[in-house]
Amino acid sequence: MTKHVAVIGSGVMGHGIAQVYALAGFSVSLYDLQEELLQKARASIEKSLSLLEHEGVITEQDKSAALERIVLTTDLPQAVADADVITEAVPEVIELKWQLFAELEQYAKPEAIIASNTSTFSIARLIEKAQSPHRFIITHFFNPAQLVPLVEIVRHEKTAEEVVAATVGLMKRIGKAPVLLKKDMPGFIANRLQAALMREAFHLLAEGVADAEEIDTVMKEGIGFRWAFVGPIETADFGGLDTWKRVMDNLAPELDQSTTAPAIIAERVEKGELGTKTGTGIYSYEHISVAEKLHARDEQFIRLAKLKKSGGN
Ligand SMILES: NC(=O)c1ccc[n+]([C@@H]2O[C@H](COP(=O)([O-])OP(=O)(O)OC[C@H]3O[C@@H](n4cnc5c(N)ncnc54)[C@H](O)[C@@H]3O)[C@@H](O)[C@H]2O)c1
Repeated sequence: MTKHVAVIGSGVMGHGIAQVYALAGFSVSLYDLQEELLQKARASIEKSLSLLEHEGVITEQDKSAALERIVLTTDLPQAVADADVITEAVPEVIELKWQLFAELEQYAKPEAIIASNTSTFSIARLIEKAQSPHRFIITHFFNPAQLVPLVEIVRHEKTAEEVVAATVGLMKRIGKAPVLLKKDMPGFIANRLQAALMREAFHLLAEGVADAEEIDTVMKEGIGFRWAFVGPIETADFGGLDTWKRVMDNLAPELDQSTTAPAIIAERVEKGELGTKTGTGIYSYEHISVAEKLHARDEQFIRLAKLKKSGGN
C-alpha cells in the first residue's frame, strides 16, 4: 500500500502533483535542484490550498495537514529512500530523464514504482536504458495538476501488471480520473485532440476569419461549454452519425493539413513573444496582472470541478 510519494522537479507540474498527493493523505518528498525553487513551489502550493479552502473544498485543517506532509529536499537519495511511488516532473529532455532514472534505480526501493509526467516521450523511449523496466509507467497530469481531474496512464508491455493496477488505483485514490491507454501513442490522447484543435484555431486566425478573442469566445461559449460534460464521440452520437458523416465528408478536405507549428506561433517565438511569461503573446499582458488572471482561472476550475462532482459526468 502506497504511503510515501516522492515528486522530482517542483516546477509548473511538480508542485501541483505534490499538492494532490499531500491533500490525499500521503507523505510527500518534493525534490528540486535548489532550495529557492522549492520555496517558490511551497508558496504556490500554499496559495492553491488557500484558494481551495476559500472555495469550501477543504478546511483550514486539511490545508495545514497537507502542508505538513510535504518535505522539501535537495537531496535525491533522501527524497526517494522511503518512496513507494516516485513521480518525475523534470524538463522534457530525454537525456535528463534517462540520467534521473538511472539515479532513481540506484537510490529507490526495488519495488518502488517510477512514474513519468512526460507529455511527449513514449514509454518505450523512456525505458530504453532502464535496468528495471517493469516498474516504469507514465502518469500524465494536466496543468494545473492540482485541479484538472484527468491523468493519462501509459504502460509498456514490460510494465508489470501489478504496477499498472496499483497506478490506476492510486490515481483514483487521489481523486483523479485516470484513463489507461491501450497503446503507446505520441501525444497520448489529450494532447493529440488539443493539437488538432489548436492547428485549426490558428489557421482561422491566419485566414482572418475572426480575431483571437472571437475564436476563443467560440470555444468558451460553444464547444468548450459542451465538452466539460459531453465528449466528441458522444457529440457525434447525439447529433446523429448520418449528420456527422456529411459534416466530416464536407469539412475534412477544408481543414488545415499543416504538419508543422502554425506560422503565427513560429513568428512570435522568433520575436521572443512567448505569451504571459514575456508579457506579449497573441494577446498583450503588459497592463494586466497574470497572477490575477491565473487566480481567476483556478477559481473557475474549482467551481467547475464542484459542479461536475455534484452532477456526475
Ligand atoms: N507545463 C505543462 O503544462 C505540462 C503538462 C503536462 C506535462 N508536462 C511535463 O511535465 C514535466 C515537467 O514540466 P514543467 O512544465 O513542470 O517544467 P518546469 O520547467 O516548470 O519544472 C521542471 C523542474 O525540474 C527541475 N529540474 C531540472 N533538472 C532537474 C533534475 N535533473 N532533477 C530534478 N529536478 C530537475 C527544475 O529546476 C524545475 O523546477 C515535463 O516532462 C513536461 O513535458 C508539462
